[in-house]
Amino acid sequence: MATRRGRQAPPCALLLLLASMFLLQGAPSQAGDTVAAGRPLSGGESLVSKRGKFRLGFFQPDNSSDHWYLGIWYNQISLHTTVWVANREAPVTDPASSQLTISSDGNMVILDHRRSAVWSTNVAGVAPNSTVGVILDSGNLVLADASNTSVVRWQSFDHFGDTWLPGGRLGRNKRTGEVTHLVAWKGYADPAPSVFSLELDPRGSSQYLLNWNGSEQYWSSGNWTGRAFAAVPEMTPTDASPLSKYTFGYVDGEDESYFIYDVTDESVVTRFLVDVTGQIKFLTWVEAAKEWMLFWSEPKKQCDVHAVCGPFGVCTENALPSCSCPRGFREHRPAEWLQNDHTAGCARNTGLACSDQDGHQKKSKNEDKFYPMPNVRLPSNAQSAAAASARDCELACLGNCSCTAYSYSGGCSLWYGDLINLQDTTSNGAGGSSIWIRLAASEFSGTRNTKKLVIGLTIAGFVAAVTVIVLATIFILRCRRMRSLWRVEGSLMAFTYRDLQFVTKNFSEKLGGGAFGSVFKGSLPDATLVAVKKLEGVRQGEKQFRAEVSTIGTIQHVNLIRLLGFCSERMRRLLVYEHMPRGSLDRHLFETSHGVLSWETRYQIALGVARGLDYLHEKCRDCIIHCDIKPENILLDEAFVPKVADFGLAKLMGRDFSRVLTTMRGTVGYLAPEWIAGTAITTKADVFSYGMMLFEIISGRRNVGQRDDGTVDFFPSTAVGLLLDGDAGRAVDGRLGGSADAAEVERACKVACWCVQDAESLRPSMGMVVQVLEGLVDVNAPPIPRSLKVLADPSKYVQFFSGLPST
Ligand SMILES: *[C@@H]1O[C@H](CO)[C@@H](O)[C@H](O)[C@H]1NC(C)=O
Ligand SMILES: *[C@@H]1O[C@H](CO)[C@@H](O)[C@H](O)[C@H]1NC(C)=O
Ligand SMILES: *[C@@H]1O[C@H](CO)[C@@H](O)[C@H](O)[C@H]1NC(C)=O
Ligand SMILES: *[C@@H]1O[C@H](CO)[C@@H](O)[C@H](O)[C@H]1NC(C)=O
Ligand SMILES: *[C@@H]1O[C@H](CO)[C@@H](O)[C@H](O)[C@H]1NC(C)=O
Ligand SMILES: *[C@@H]1O[C@H](CO)[C@@H](O)[C@H](O)[C@H]1NC(C)=O
Repeated sequence: MATRRGRQAPPCALLLLLASMFLLQGAPSQAGDTVAAGRPLSGGESLVSKRGKFRLGFFQPDNSSDHWYLGIWYNQISLHTTVWVANREAPVTDPASSQLTISSDGNMVILDHRRSAVWSTNVAGVAPNSTVGVILDSGNLVLADASNTSVVRWQSFDHFGDTWLPGGRLGRNKRTGEVTHLVAWKGYADPAPSVFSLELDPRGSSQYLLNWNGSEQYWSSGNWTGRAFAAVPEMTPTDASPLSKYTFGYVDGEDESYFIYDVTDESVVTRFLVDVTGQIKFLTWVEAAKEWMLFWSEPKKQCDVHAVCGPFGVCTENALPSCSCPRGFREHRPAEWLQNDHTAGCARNTGLACSDQDGHQKKSKNEDKFYPMPNVRLPSNAQSAAAASARDCELACLGNCSCTAYSYSGGCSLWYGDLINLQDTTSNGAGGSSIWIRLAASEFSGTRNTKKLVIGLTIAGFVAAVTVIVLATIFILRCRRMRSLWRVEGSLMAFTYRDLQFVTKNFSEKLGGGAFGSVFKGSLPDATLVAVKKLEGVRQGEKQFRAEVSTIGTIQHVNLIRLLGFCSERMRRLLVYEHMPRGSLDRHLFETSHGVLSWETRYQIALGVARGLDYLHEKCRDCIIHCDIKPENILLDEAFVPKVADFGLAKLMGRDFSRVLTTMRGTVGYLAPEWIAGTAITTKADVFSYGMMLFEIISGRRNVGQRDDGTVDFFPSTAVGLLLDGDAGRAVDGRLGGSADAAEVERACKVACWCVQDAESLRPSMGMVVQVLEGLVDVNAPPIPRSLKVLADPSKYVQFFSGLPST
């Protein structure tokens, strides 16, 4: 297939996110890499390691608070990325008068504006006036003898923060029994230690454990087998993989045992951390995309992290935010919630009638009611109770004030106190259990005062009439206001948050949770149905947000979802889209409950998406790369006309792939290799994802599946094999019973295979794809992409490493 080179576009993944989070001191750097008694490091200065790799200084992770920390960050990458913080729990408030220095007892200390030490290396037995602090090119800060800096008294590599850099040893001292921990930050702008930590098993085995609050273990690496950890087989190095650039080793010595890793290639910038989400993540810096690329993480599922959403929080996989509060609850600490720290969980809007403030039982305990929540993974720590029916189970719960929920399916389960690890499994399509959560009766509005209302109406009908008139007036005023704003903002409506609360009935009907936030159904005053997306994690200022949004608002095409309006109010950012009655493509492809899409419909969907993307890539004023093409982002209208959703958001939000890729094997399937290889991202990255999705449209199932024997099955490899054997028809979804146009199937398979070529230059443009699918241009047989060969073999999953920048 002939190819046109797509215009070279700026990578859509410019991650403004962290850059704007971390306001750097525009500080002059102090010459050198050393702090000494007579040469302290004060707030306005910083030190740089000898070859310029790391910088040490005071920084402010969140400029809305006056918390300053002494930390180490990368000096040569554009995104401020902290790898270590000294005073995690003791920020200083005035950097100008604070300093890092060597105290008279020989320790390195941070002095605040009152000259009192808020942090110290705290080593005993160093001679006064004989030590210096040096920042090394490994990112290690050492306290060493001034006369010979090879004699190290203390080093930051023995006192990890959340990050484990190459060369560091994460292990256990066999003599003292001490273990070194990686402890996550509490929030993305709060370095204080959170409840999630990683450590080598203190009981002496060779496995690493992820713990919640130092006690509850939620993941284990399995024991070291000599080449890999038992539960991490993908770590096994293979000849082909540039894992050869990494050296891994478990050292079980006499005094200590530890794991160490390093990169042999100096140009590879890599780090390992326990993220705020409680997951361990391996990331590599991709200069071309100016962002950290995740290539490995555990637990793969966000919701497998213990208590990640805190008490009463509900976890939803593959969604942002991954945590939400059930009905009758609200975020316990909203500010922390915004920082992605959900561990404080949710609190009741209304206390239970059952208990007064002191928790004592009151007489009116029957006031409480139960709200049923279907499709959930039940919380931990259920207690079973004897109950013959659901009603008995309910009464058993109602009868005890500390009972907060029950579930009945054959047997009766009761929960006392906080609900932990509740998960919404609606989007998994796999169903789940139902749980009944205890709420104050007043949460069930409408039921409470029905009787009174009826009486009131009969006695004083005019009151109701007045109410109606008032409501109508409010309604009309509201409409007016919306219309007037409509004029103000050109083609887009600007809503207030209150407008949208009204439109969505206080965000009561959730349509789904996408990568950028939850979506709620709403209805405008003129009865137009809309989908309201509550964006999460936007850190752009108001002006910039409005500019980006109005750009997106001008993009209109029959195969692109239409943005109707927005809301930008303090921290709140919402987008209002046209509503798509049939939901997203994945449901129709992968869930049986929606019936089977006919081949004609599938082909029209494939063609429509191609047209939409072609428009985004070529026809808009500014070329837009979508970056996240997958069935979840294709919405269908009543007539199954596809509309690409979420375009432009990558630029708006800053793309944080480490959050999108919660399951590597699931999602990475749509990602073009250049994301990992670190070369420039062009529109051809979308072409790759489109190709992967086209395979799924053909087969009606996910590309990556598991066979009955547990091995991994990669459909595109199978399809390409069939195509080359001239038997493409067999690649089609079996549920169609063979009713598919053979020529179209072959064409679609060929296009898909061309789209997923490793070399971008071989992939067609979306415009070319449209022409081929329309039958205007013929296609040659495609070559088999190397990655398809590799992916066909599950033992080679480690190939995610293979894209690391080579040189
Ligand atoms: C924090 O930073 C933002 C953007 O960089 C800026 O608009 C805002 O004024 C700053 N706030 C303070 C308190 O410095
Ligand atoms: C350390 O040096 C300071 C001045 O540099 C001096 O005042 C102090 O007496 C010295 N302390 C010792 C124990 O030598
Ligand atoms: C510095 O200390 C190291 C380790 O103790 C030793 O090997 C080296 O010879 C010392 N160098 C000097 C110049 O004293
Ligand atoms: C965490 O552990 C500490 C002691 O190890 C305990 O006091 C605290 O209650 C625990 N926190 C929670 C939320 O369970
Ligand atoms: C690792 O080995 C220890 C004994 O050395 C054993 O108790 C533990 O169960 C093993 N862990 C796993 C996950 O098999
Ligand atoms: C409620 O249940 C808890 C847990 O089973 C139990 O400890 C407590 O005594 C019960 N309270 C009453 C009043 O029955």
